[in-house]
Amino acid sequence: MKIAFVGKGGSGKTTLSSLFVRHLAAARVPVVAIDADINQHLGAALGLADHADAAPPAMGAQLPLIKDYLRGTNPRITSTDSMIKTTPPGEGSRLLRVGDGNPIFDACARLVRLDDGEVQLMATGPFTESDLGVACYHSKVGAVELCLNHLIDGRHEFIVVDMTAGSDSFASGMFTRFDLTFLVAEPTRKGTAVYRQYKEYARDFGVALRVVGNKVQGPDDLAFLRDEVGDDLLVTVSHSDWVRSMEKGRPPQFELLEETNRQALRTLHEAADAAYETRDWERYTRQMVHFHLKNAESWGNARTGADLAAQVDPAFILDERPVATRQPA
Ligand SMILES: Nc1ncnc2c1ncn2[C@@H]1O[C@H](COP(=O)(O)OP(=O)(O)O)[C@@H](O)[C@H]1O
Ligand SMILES: [Mg+2]
Repeated sequence: MKIAFVGKGGSGKTTLSSLFVRHLAAARVPVVAIDADINQHLGAALGLADHADAAPPAMGAQLPLIKDYLRGTNPRITSTDSMIKTTPPGEGSRLLRVGDGNPIFDACARLVRLDDGEVQLMATGPFTESDLGVACYHSKVGAVELCLNHLIDGRHEFIVVDMTAGSDSFASGMFTRFDLTFLVAEPTRKGTAVYRQYKEYARDFGVALRVVGNKVQGPDDLAFLRDEVGDDLLVTVSHSDWVRSMEKGRPPQFELLEETNRQALRTLHEAADAAYETRDWERYTRQMVHFHLKNAESWGNARTGADLAAQVDPAFILDERPVATRQPA
């Protein structure tokens, strides 16, 4: 299951991603967490020490390896240079599975042991001022998009992405890559404005979007969120002293998280489970092709000097069967 946490900066994406990841890990659900936020704080929120060598290697820096591995023997992708972030898999491409060893996870993932369970952590790598709005930013998030487009994930294994709700994720199609998107919103006008913008983009693509209210203090806050987002409001999380202690560098045992907030995490898990029923690999594949053609036309063909539409394998549909049982089309 591919799950995204998006929202305004400071709304609590990283905090709620990390709590959800801890919840899954404690339930012994295999989970890969990916930090794709502008501010790379997911590792710290999972208790990883702050010094540089504790952080996972930047996926952005591993793009050549990622492309080379995923390309496999796909004859439609003539070189890694012609592979862009939206290049879809086809016959001969290598696909990724959560929990399987592969050179990409070997190079990019770090095992983080939690007090209850463990998680594989990957990260786009830090964004600098000069990355924003230019190619580097795109290629850093693009590494995640490539992996998601080559991932065959089953029902009881999770990829959780902590992500910025930026325009890049709309242009590339990244926002359509998830079984369920949790939009984290504080009960403020700015928080719900991001929701409305996201909803607008999501509408045409059948993106499953639920709002998680955060830092909700009382009935007024709840009523405000209900008014603003209606039935899209899934659950709310209140101010957490547990989170505050963690921020002070003194993480309590996860089981000591406030009961109401634990219940909220169970609700997220149930919503994610339920989203499996609406998974549609055919649509998933069609959308990645749609965004690939769009990116090819708007910049990819010019950048690579090739006709990137030729990378599309018309007969290929991604699905979760083990690679070995696939029949050539
Ligand atoms: N439910 C909560 N209870 C207490 N503190 C919270 C809660 N949610 C977020 N915070 C705090 O708010 C700040 C911003 O949260 P963060 O998760 O980093 O936001 P984002 O990733 O969306 O930018 C952090 O200091 C975090 O600890
Ligand atoms: Mg963050």
